[in-house]
Amino acid sequence: MGMLDGKVAIITGGAKGMGEATAKLFAENGAKVVIADIDVSGGERVTNEIKETGGEAAFVRADISKGEEVKGMVDFAVETYGELNVAVNNAAKIPDDKPFGEMADEDIDALFDIDLKGNILCLKYELIQMEKQGKGGAIVNISSISGIRPQPANPLYVTAKHGIIGATKTAAMDYSPKGIRINSIAPGAVDTPMLREALEHFNLEPVSYAKQLSLLGRFADPREIAQGTMWLCSDAASFVTGQVLAVDGGYTAM
Ligand SMILES: NC(=O)c1ccc[n+]([C@@H]2O[C@H](COP(=O)([O-])OP(=O)(O)OC[C@H]3O[C@@H](n4cnc5c(N)ncnc54)[C@H](O)[C@@H]3O)[C@@H](O)[C@H]2O)c1
Repeated sequence: MGMLDGKVAIITGGAKGMGEATAKLFAENGAKVVIADIDVSGGERVTNEIKETGGEAAFVRADISKGEEVKGMVDFAVETYGELNVAVNNAAKIPDDKPFGEMADEDIDALFDIDLKGNILCLKYELIQMEKQGKGGAIVNISSISGIRPQPANPLYVTAKHGIIGATKTAAMDYSPKGIRINSIAPGAVDTPMLREALEHFNLEPVSYAKQLSLLGRFADPREIAQGTMWLCSDAASFVTGQVLAVDGGYTAM
């Protein structure tokens, strides 16, 4: 018996990194997984790898910053598997790299369009579908330790990730009476393509940076974050809503 047996789950940003690990863990635990991403070759690769190991998965190309594509993503899940029970809003853009005074005005839309508006569009269309079905559901919005505590020189990412937590709490308030639970995960530093790109961009030394960002002295494996996400999406977390689970190796306890 898997923790998500028979559940239909959308995972945005499932073509690599944490989204890929989440899609694979969910499929291993019995979910029918819809992978949504702008990266078609990555999304198809992950979908095929899941199918080759006996899991159920389908890919849809969707840019989360566009409302009609997000609606199309939800419609695709329902057309493919009959309903929508679970969603993980995970896709995001690499953090910005300048304090407020140095950013270009266009940088604001570029990051917020995906990390904030995009995830809110996902939440909107997933909630509409789950409410229509009348059977409840579970949604996890991926925030960050940057949604709890600021990091230097990425004010847009920090603001967007705080916003994700606000969206999670207010959605939980409005939709808990309908049996839909909405929670957030705040990952610490996770060894994904996004983190590797950021380390290179900011010229950070991985070993000392990992110690600085975790009591456990290392980066997380993406699967360790996916385990927390899976628990929140499963019936094991049936009395948990409106919460932020920090899966951060103790960073926010420091
Ligand atoms: N890696 C970390 O250390 C870390 C830490 C805290 C939080 N996070 C958060 O975890 C989530 C996953 O991060 P990751 O490290 O796996 O990132 P990643 O860059 O490795 O993967 C992100 C995925 O999102 C997709 N994507 C980007 N823009 C999109 C769009 N407009 N529409 C659809 N898909 C889009 C990309 O194609 C990619 O497949 C993000 O929300 C990120 O902010 C990451």
